[in-house]
Amino acid sequence: MKRLISGIQPSGVVTLGNYIGAIKQFVKLQNELSEADILVFIADLHAITVPQVKEKLRKNIKELAALYIACGLDPSKVHLFIQSEVHEHNQLAYIMECTAHIGELERMTQYKDKKVKQVLGVKSSLLTYPALMAADILLYDADLVPIGDDQKQHLELTRDLAIRFNNTYGDTFIVPDGYFTKNGSRIMSLTNPTKKMSKSDENPKSYILLLDDINTAKNKIKSAVTDSDGIIKYDKKNKPGISNLLSIYASLTAYSVKDLEIKYKDSNYATFKKDLADVIEETLLPIQRKFNEIINSKELDEILDDGKNYAKKLASRKISKVYNKIGLGRKI
Ligand code: TYM
Repeated sequence: MKRLISGIQPSGVVTLGNYIGAIKQFVKLQNELSEADILVFIADLHAITVPQVKEKLRKNIKELAALYIACGLDPSKVHLFIQSEVHEHNQLAYIMECTAHIGELERMTQYKDKKVKQVLGVKSSLLTYPALMAADILLYDADLVPIGDDQKQHLELTRDLAIRFNNTYGDTFIVPDGYFTKNGSRIMSLTNPTKKMSKSDENPKSYILLLDDINTAKNKIKSAVTDSDGIIKYDKKNKPGISNLLSIYASLTAYSVKDLEIKYKDSNYATFKKDLADVIEETLLPIQRKFNEIINSKELDEILDDGKNYAKKLASRKISKVYNKIGLGRKI
């Protein structure tokens, strides 16, 4: 049986990029791989590698849990839990820090990007973050990790750490593979389409949040940066804006990018954007409806408790095995 794992940081409301690059893939895999064991979590420990406000963090954690369900994760098929409630993540993260080299961590592009943005000093956990991410994955012997493009480097490091540990202590970890979507593994900013869409962007017009007011979201599409030649064609290098909108459109509908190029061959950007804005509305409305139904329900807590118990069972078994392999404590 294949096992899948993935997580999202509760560092703000989920963006359309997170939805297309990650959550939509979880839902697809849950429906296609009926035999798979799927774990999805809220990566709250990752969120505190940069400063967070307590009340906001709590709110974001709960909202992310509800959004996972609202986007179609089925708790009868997926184990949903909060990372910090399964302490073995921290235990294995330390072992991974003892496996990784500083040079490898310093080479991570996300570390380099985030480091320069820290005004109150760079927390050491921002550097060791990939060791925690490796622990999240290796703790569960996951075979497959559905992620967006920006996490590729962290997954490569996870694979290297698993191989290094296995070579030192004998076969312990499964070396996981990434799973990436064809069109949407890097959704770009709507205001600067050479940059990734990110919830930490200072300009709210650059991203769509799943909980954005529908008209606000539609207007963000309508004001998205394109170019002046007016031709609806995918050309990432020369026409990054329209290419990004084509990727979003194709990711949210049954059309391929090629289909869309044909459909809008004799059209213009205004018509194309209006149609895409309608697609955004059709995507967000049911998610927001379901979100409002579940956000304050007892059911959500029950789902998270079940998920925690399941994850804990697997994680505690694995951490004992790892400690024994290394020779920590007494043999159990
Ligand atoms: P995070 O919270 O930054 O993003 C969550 C997921 O969304 C994907 N993503 C995108 N996909 C397409 N276009 C975008 N613009 C875009 N922005 C984000 C990310 O690639 C990711 O899949 N370190 C991780 C969370 C994590 C994790 C893990 C993931 C912690 N432990 C273990 C998988 C397995 C992160 O910060 O993702």
